[in-house]
Amino acid sequence: MLDMKIYEKKTNAKIIRKLTSQNIKKKSSAKDILYLLDDMKNFSEINNIPICKIEVINFISNLINDSQYKNILEIGTAIGYFAIHIQMLSSAKITTIELSKKMFSIAQKNIKKAKKNNKIKLILGEANEILTNLKNKYLKYFDLIFIDAAKSQYKKYFLNSVDLLKPSGVIICDNILFRGMVNENNKINKRYKTIVKNMKLFLEFLTKNKDFNTTIVPISDGLSISYKINKTSNKYLLN
Ligand SMILES: C[S@@+](CC[C@H](N)C(=O)[O-])C[C@H]1O[C@@H](n2cnc3c(N)ncnc32)[C@H](O)[C@@H]1O
Repeated sequence: MLDMKIYEKKTNAKIIRKLTSQNIKKKSSAKDILYLLDDMKNFSEINNIPICKIEVINFISNLINDSQYKNILEIGTAIGYFAIHIQMLSSAKITTIELSKKMFSIAQKNIKKAKKNNKIKLILGEANEILTNLKNKYLKYFDLIFIDAAKSQYKKYFLNSVDLLKPSGVIICDNILFRGMVNENNKINKRYKTIVKNMKLFLEFLTKNKDFNTTIVPISDGLSISYKINKTSNKYLLN
């Protein structure tokens, strides 16, 4: 726990250092966002709201920057921590979906405080319904789709996301190893038996899915990284 706090401080210090070559206005607004993100993190801890760990944010923002991804879709906004953090670390546009009115309203205020209204589009509603509606306007539009909502619905979110993904785009799911319990050898807490069973089935679905090339990355609570196989390019044919 202590190590993680030190790591986070170092990460934030690194971000501030990186900004020294940019103009003062940009520097102070990025610092304001870092303070806001710190407040949001404390708020989520006090109120028991699960948000992404910093190592997941760093991993995904590196992927976005390396691949020059422009359009990101997040399923499960909560208070907007992932969306604001990722937007700050990349120049991508984020669309994010949240079911809870309470979370939506908190996220809305945070996005406004971060002055990211023109970069982050927040949608209130049930993700599977919204995803179906988005198909009218955003077919093959998103470079990266991040799934971080109800664990029991992952397969549904995934299937409903496929048409929105660009060829060679990527779908990332968080908490895929669910506190280490999805690992066969670990003991399963009775309370989480159904979630763990669903996650195992979802992992099996991912690994057998011939349209995607999936890797499991054991950072934080486990991420699945599923690249869509672009049938018109031979980039992934050897995998
Ligand atoms: C783990 S939190 C998301 C954290 C956020 N991704 C972050 O790291 O900042 C999961 C959120 O998904 C939302 N959620 C659950 N089921 C949903 C659904 N079917 N559609 C949209 N949002 C949903 C919950 O209300 C909750 O706020």
